[in-house]
Amino acid sequence: MRILETKNYEEMSALAADIIGAQVLLKPRCVLGLATGSSPIGTYQKLIEACRQGRLDFSQVRTVNLDEYCGLTGDNPQSYRYFMDHQLFSQVNIPRENTFLPDGMAQDMEEESRRYEALVASLGGVDLQLLGIGHNGHIGFNEPTDSFPPTVHQVELTESTIQANSRLFDRIEDVPTQAITMGVGTILKADKILLIAGADKKSIVEEALYGKVTPQVPASVLQLHRDVTVITCREG
Ligand code: F6R
Repeated sequence: MRILETKNYEEMSALAADIIGAQVLLKPRCVLGLATGSSPIGTYQKLIEACRQGRLDFSQVRTVNLDEYCGLTGDNPQSYRYFMDHQLFSQVNIPRENTFLPDGMAQDMEEESRRYEALVASLGGVDLQLLGIGHNGHIGFNEPTDSFPPTVHQVELTESTIQANSRLFDRIEDVPTQAITMGVGTILKADKILLIAGADKKSIVEEALYGKVTPQVPASVLQLHRDVTVITCREG
C-alpha cells in the first residue's frame, strides 16, 4: 500500500487526477470505477481541465460507479447519476452510453444487483477504482456490519450516513434510506484502488489502514488488496 500525504484538498485532487489520467493514457479503453461525494469533486475538475487542454481523451473509457440511492430517478439532482453527469461526464468527451451506475429505480433490487455485478464483470473488471471513505469507515455504501458483503446488494443506510448526507438535501427526511452498492468483494476485484480522504477523515483512515481488518470498519479490508494507493491531506 502506498500512502501519499498532500498539503491540502487542491494537491490531493491534482495527484488523484494524475493517477487516473495515467491509467487513461496507458490504457485508453480502461474501465474506471468512480465515486460520488465531496472528496472526488476536485479530482473530477482536474480531469475536466486535462481533457479540455487535450491532454486526456475519454472517448474509449468506460466507467462504473460504486452506488446509487434507491428511489431517485437520474434527473433528480440528488441522484448519483445526476451528480456524475454534471460533475464529470457532460464535461469530458466520454460517450454517455459508456457510463454505468446501478439503477436505483429498478423494481426488483435483487435482480438489479445481479445485473450490475455481471455488467462490471462483462466489461472485463475495473482497472482503477476511485474510493472515498465515510466517517464510519464505509466504502461505497458498505456500512459497518458483521461480514464483508461479497457482491452488489441493496443496503439500509445507517443513521450516521443519513446525517452526513443530509447536508446535500433540503430536509433530512428527504435523504433516501436505502441504496444499491457494489459489495466489498466487487470493490476488491479491481486491479488498482485509489482512496482519497480529506483532513477530516484522518482518524478513520488511520483506524482503517493500521487497525484490525474487520467488517466493522469496511475500509480496513483494503489492507488485503495488492495495489492500493491512499492520498490524504494535512489540511482542508
Ligand atoms: C460515494 C460513496 C461514499 C463516499 C463517502 C465519503 O459514491 O461511495 O462511500 O465516498 O461517503 O463521502 P464524502 O466524499 O462526501 O465525504
